[in-house]
Amino acid sequence: MPFAADPARYDSMPYRRAGRSGLVLPPLSLGLWQNFGATRSFETQRAIVLRAFDAGITHFDLANNYGPPPGAAEETFGRILATDLQAYRDEIVVSTKAGYLMWPGPYGDHGSRKYLLSSLEQSLKRLGLDYVDVFYHHRPDLETPLEESMGALTTAVEQGKALYPAISNYDAARTTAAAELLAAAGTPLLLHQPRYSLFDRTPERDVFGAVERAGAAAIVFSPLAQGMLTDRYLDGVPEGSRALTSAFLHESDLSEDVLATVRSLNDIAAGRGQSLAQLALQWVLRNPVVVSAIIGASSVAQLEQNLGALDGPELAPDVLDAIDAVLADRRRP
Ligand SMILES: NC(=O)c1ccc[n+]([C@@H]2O[C@H](COP(=O)([O-])OP(=O)(O)OC[C@H]3O[C@@H](n4cnc5c(N)ncnc54)[C@H](OP(=O)(O)O)[C@@H]3O)[C@@H](O)[C@H]2O)c1
Repeated sequence: MPFAADPARYDSMPYRRAGRSGLVLPPLSLGLWQNFGATRSFETQRAIVLRAFDAGITHFDLANNYGPPPGAAEETFGRILATDLQAYRDEIVVSTKAGYLMWPGPYGDHGSRKYLLSSLEQSLKRLGLDYVDVFYHHRPDLETPLEESMGALTTAVEQGKALYPAISNYDAARTTAAAELLAAAGTPLLLHQPRYSLFDRTPERDVFGAVERAGAAAIVFSPLAQGMLTDRYLDGVPEGSRALTSAFLHESDLSEDVLATVRSLNDIAAGRGQSLAQLALQWVLRNPVVVSAIIGASSVAQLEQNLGALDGPELAPDVLDAIDAVLADRRRP
């Protein structure tokens, strides 16, 4: 059956403007880091992406190395684009990145012009696209002059292979310097992508301020701390969960202390008639510099639940205080 998108898909999604740009993004974006490689069912992956699009999620976040194996997530998304979403290309924002190891030898990693522009070329082939909407430098590279990395992003935009430049995992000082270089080149910084959740508030220190001053927006990753800020692990570690299948989350991360905090947060969410995942997403989105939270999902049911965050009851000051109190009590391993 050819896919026909829901005509009501734009009726209720509260799009937000990304900084001082002309681009609006959905408050929830779908990330394809871990569940869209070659080791998962294509039909499930397709169902998640199409349900997201039908719900008004217009933004899909990828990187050269997402898989497994690296490159596979872009291939999966390219396949869905070709079979189902071709007619909707102009309604979709596709982001990709380069900055981590992608191919052997000295030119397959970090932040040189050589690496960034050849990686973008490879990403476009895997995605089956002429351009991506957003191209990121995925992590800072202290060995390469920032002028060179930002110059490569500007070149990508000038060549029409990306519409907007972006950075990820940069500290505040480097964010400011990158934004200045990009602005001077006439290709202003659109987005900074840091990790941000109830369990990692680091960007509140100075990165968010730098992003705001640059006129850019923050789009945050792992807002559910890879599933820890959900009910996923409250009754043990389920078969097939990320804690058992991924190199990036381990059973040992789920200490009794962590689970005690999760339970307290879960109680606050339950008192509001919502799930912990919904509360955790609403919480990151309370910050006006955050244009969108990039969620991962391994099933349509998770995605559906997470969309419910957009209809949650207001986060009143007493709820924020109760959350802060739980986090202050958190015992660190
Ligand atoms: N720029 C960077 O350096 C960087 C780094 C990491 C991620 N990212 C981006 O951010 C995206 C999101 O990261 P993430 O996957 O870590 O995000 P996340 O939303 O914090 O975690 C997603 C995982 O949480 C679990 N989950 C989600 N919703 C759930 C629900 N309602 N109930 C129970 N469990 C639920 C699922 O785990 P199971 O798989 O166990 O079901 C899912 O795979 C990535 O896809 C990527 O696009 C960027």
